[in-house]
Amino acid sequence: MKNVLITGGAGFIGSHVVRLFVNKYPEYRIVNLDALTYAGNLANLRDVEDAPNYSFVKADICDFETLCRIFVQYDIDGVIHLAAESHVDRSIKDPFTFARTNVMGTLSLLEAARRHWGGDWEGKLFYHISTDEVYGALELDQPEGCAPYGSDFFRESTKYAPHSPYSASKAGSDHFVRAYHDTYGMPALVTNCSNNYGPYQFPEKLIPLFINNICKSKPLPIYGKGENVRDWLYVEDHARAIDLIFHRGRVGDTYNIGGFNEWKNIDIVHLLIRTVDRLLHRPEGASDHLITYVTDRAGHDLRYAIDATKLRNELGWEPTVQFELGIEKTVRWYLENQEWLDTVTSGDYRRYYEEMYR
Ligand code: NAD
Ligand code: TYD
Repeated sequence: MKNVLITGGAGFIGSHVVRLFVNKYPEYRIVNLDALTYAGNLANLRDVEDAPNYSFVKADICDFETLCRIFVQYDIDGVIHLAAESHVDRSIKDPFTFARTNVMGTLSLLEAARRHWGGDWEGKLFYHISTDEVYGALELDQPEGCAPYGSDFFRESTKYAPHSPYSASKAGSDHFVRAYHDTYGMPALVTNCSNNYGPYQFPEKLIPLFINNICKSKPLPIYGKGENVRDWLYVEDHARAIDLIFHRGRVGDTYNIGGFNEWKNIDIVHLLIRTVDRLLHRPEGASDHLITYVTDRAGHDLRYAIDATKLRNELGWEPTVQFELGIEKTVRWYLENQEWLDTVTSGDYRRYYEEMYR
C-alpha cells in the first residue's frame, strides 16, 4: 500500500497517527484530509508538515465531489478514517452536526473509495476508527475477584446499544462500513477504542480541560458524583494499535482496543490535582477547593471497560504506558505548551488557518 488517506489527521488522535505513519513509512505518501473544524489544528503537526511524504488537504468528508477528486489525484489505496465530531456534550446540544459528519461523512468517504477502486480490491483497505461508546454502558458492580469496577466487559460480540447522539452517530457509521464490506466486498476493518488521553487533546475533554483549569485555578465541573468509570489508554498506544491493525488486521473483522485501565472520574481528578500542584510547586491540596459537583450529563453512561484480549492474542498488542506515568507525561506536555493551550482556547489558531486556506 503506497498512498494512504488519513482523515481527521489535524485532530487529537489523528495527529498522532499521521506523525507515526509519516516517520515510520517514508515509502508511503500520507495524505491528511481534514476540514479544520474547531477541533482540527495544523499546529499539532508542525514537526512533520515539511516531510516529503506528507500532504495536507483541507476538505469536508461530506463533500462527495471533492472526495472523489482527491481519491483520483492521489490514487489512494488505503484509508484510515478518524474525522468525526467527537465530543458527547456537543452532541447533546447539536445532534444534527454529528449525524451529518459521522454518518453522512463516513458514507460519502466509503462511496468515494468504492467509485475509485471500481471493484478492484487488491491492495485496498478502508479502516474505520470507532469508539467503545457504541456498546452502551456497563454496570458498576464489584463482585469478589473482579477487575476493578465490574464483572462485565465490552467484547467484539457485544450488541450495539448507543445512548448519546455521539455514540448513535458512530454506531451508524460502523454499520455503514460493515455494510460496504458485506454488500460490495470492500476490504474494511473497524476498531472500537476506549477513552484516549495525551498531548494535543482539545481542552473540552475531561483530562485536558481539568489540567488547564487546575493551572488557571478555575472550577473543575464534575458531572454527578464523579462515580462514572472510563477505561483510559495513552494516545500513542492507540496509534501503535492502528498501525498494527492497518497492516496485519484480518479484513472484515472488528477489534476492540483498550487500556485494561478503569478509573472513576473523581479519582482521576485527585490524581490530576496532585500532579499539577506538584509540578507547579504548589503546596499539597492547594487546588482541592476547585472541585465542583455539577448537574449530571444527560444519559451519562456509568461505566465503559474494554476486553482487548482478542487484539492481544491475535496480534500481540499491549498497552505500554502505565496510567500514572502517562498522566505525568501529559501534564508536563500541557505545562510546557501553554501557548498551544492558550491559542486553542482563544480560537486564535482557527482565525489564522481560516485565513491561510480561504
Ligand atoms: P478530534 O475531535 O480531536 O478530531 C477530529 C478531527 O476531525 C478534527 O481534526 C476535525 O477538524 C476533523 N473533522 C471534523 N469534522 C470533519 C469533516 N466534516 N470533514 C473533515 N474533517 C473533519 O477527535 P479525536 O478525539 O482525535 O477522535 C478521532 C476519532 O477517534 C473519532 O472518529 C472518534 O470517534 C474516535 N475515537 C476517539 C476516542 C477518544 O477518546 N478521543 C476514543 C475512541 C475513538
Ligand atoms: P469525556 O472526556 O467527555 O469523554 P466521554 O464522555 O467520551 O467518556 O468525559 C470523560 C468522563 O468525564 C465522563 O464520565 C464525563 C466526565 N466529565 C465531567 O465530569 N466533567 C467534565 O467537564 C467533562 C468534560 C467530563
